[in-house]
Amino acid sequence: MSPTFEVPQNGNAKHQESNSSIFEIGDSDLSRLLERPRPVNIERKRSFDERSFSELSISSPPRQFYRNSENSSRVFDSLGGIHSPARSGVSTPRSFNCVETHPVVAEAWVSLQRSIVHFRGQPVGTIAALDHSTEELNYDQVFLRDFVPSALAFLMNGEPEIVKNFLLKTLRLQSWEKKVDNFTLGAGVMPASFKVLHDPVRNYETIIADFGECAIGRVAPVDSGFWWIILLRAYTKSTGDTSLAELPECQRGIRLILTLCLSEGFDTFPTLLCADGCSMIDRRMGVYGYPIEIQALFFMALRCALLLLKQDEEGKDCADRISKRLHALSYHMRSYFWLDIKQLNDIYRYKTEEYSHTAVNKFNVMPDSLPDWVFDFMPTRGGYFIGNVSPAKMDFRWFCLGNCVAILSSLATPEQASAIMDLIESRWEELVGEMPLKICYPAMENHEWRIVTGCDPKNTSWSYHNGGSWPACIKSGRPQLARRAIELAESRLLKDHWPEYYDGKLGRYVGKQARKNQTWSIAGYLVAKMMLEDPSHLGMISLEEDKQMKPHMKRSASWMC
Ligand code: GLC
Repeated sequence: MSPTFEVPQNGNAKHQESNSSIFEIGDSDLSRLLERPRPVNIERKRSFDERSFSELSISSPPRQFYRNSENSSRVFDSLGGIHSPARSGVSTPRSFNCVETHPVVAEAWVSLQRSIVHFRGQPVGTIAALDHSTEELNYDQVFLRDFVPSALAFLMNGEPEIVKNFLLKTLRLQSWEKKVDNFTLGAGVMPASFKVLHDPVRNYETIIADFGECAIGRVAPVDSGFWWIILLRAYTKSTGDTSLAELPECQRGIRLILTLCLSEGFDTFPTLLCADGCSMIDRRMGVYGYPIEIQALFFMALRCALLLLKQDEEGKDCADRISKRLHALSYHMRSYFWLDIKQLNDIYRYKTEEYSHTAVNKFNVMPDSLPDWVFDFMPTRGGYFIGNVSPAKMDFRWFCLGNCVAILSSLATPEQASAIMDLIESRWEELVGEMPLKICYPAMENHEWRIVTGCDPKNTSWSYHNGGSWPACIKSGRPQLARRAIELAESRLLKDHWPEYYDGKLGRYVGKQARKNQTWSIAGYLVAKMMLEDPSHLGMISLEEDKQMKPHMKRSASWMC
């Protein structure tokens, strides 16, 4: 049984945990939806920018920009325009025509609002999926990773309270004693998800959290702590409110999460060794060892922590360890995980069984282990971080989230980032098809599927984690590409009731067991839309290249043409 903590029900608080209260939008919620957007506090925002030196990838727009937006809003009001829920989503003049009046956006805001979970009357997160047509399992919980797109949408909309509450609430959960059977987990572990229970008889609200002890397959949520740090930085960056991150409990929380990853041991690589199913792909999928998604999130969380840690004794000590790890990690990832046509050709010609410091084929990868598909998949121009690297093992699959986070965090050098986008462009049919974007490519089939997934019927070829298409993965890299991707998603998401994922080589079919009203499909769409309308939002979730981390490997000149 999971540990719980109980809080007396506040007399005025809404009892949001019953299904009906989540589903129904009361008058007060509606009027909140129809509120005008709150202007962003630009002065406070700037002070965090100053502290975070080189991190702004797109500088904040001049105040004039916001003033214009406000004026435009007023003009719109005086013309008698109707506030739609989406209205509060964007405050740029351009967005009137594109975003604010778009029916899909309006519906998305209503659905996102419906997914909000309250605890003691305060919003603390969003439910994974609001779909009562099928067994709920744990989809009625607030997942840490799933809440990130929701949080970004709320931050962009000038609604930081829910994000702050979520960060504080999950931080409290971190201090619980966590056990799987008789085994106690590390102090820094953050839960995969939590749920608010309401006991109407005792009038108590209770939170239960899952650290893996209830999860299907008992998988460890390694990514949760990283997302927590990344979100804390997004909150700080977006609001300019540094006081939350400076709280002693937040500083301690960051250090505890990182202590789990920075401890010294037998490792010969700076990458983080993980068990299968420890991230968004939370089932057996051959994603164990050093999966790209975790390495990219680890890198990003380390960089965010450097910006958030105070310069006191404990903070400084942690920051020193972070800097050393970042240096080694970026070298390792950029050198050994990067694949382009030149690198592929080099591996194809590798000698094996080399001993000594001068070995070229350091991990003793057998050229025969190169899968056939990778030769056709690799464009002349373009490249990507492969799925995994360890002794005699290279997982050549392309994983969406790891590569996107590598771009956002600047783990990818500028050349590598543009190579990743080049690859998506030239392999559009395979990676995007009719629904952006494949979680990984290609899917495993037949014998390989049986061995690697353990015959998982949910992860059959081109379904769910095995090559399924996840609408929440949309991101803007090159605006024209992002626009194309969003248009594809827009044409179907609402019509199909915001499914969790799509199946098939082209992503044409609503996923076999996909939940409807999946919150991160809704929030992912809104975030992508708002980001495109106002690219200054990107600053809260992206980090500029750190010039001190010298890129080891550039894209070779011949692929730059
Ligand atoms: C599935 C996904 C996981 C997600 C969860 C809740 O288990 O694989 O990534 O967090 O559903 O939506």
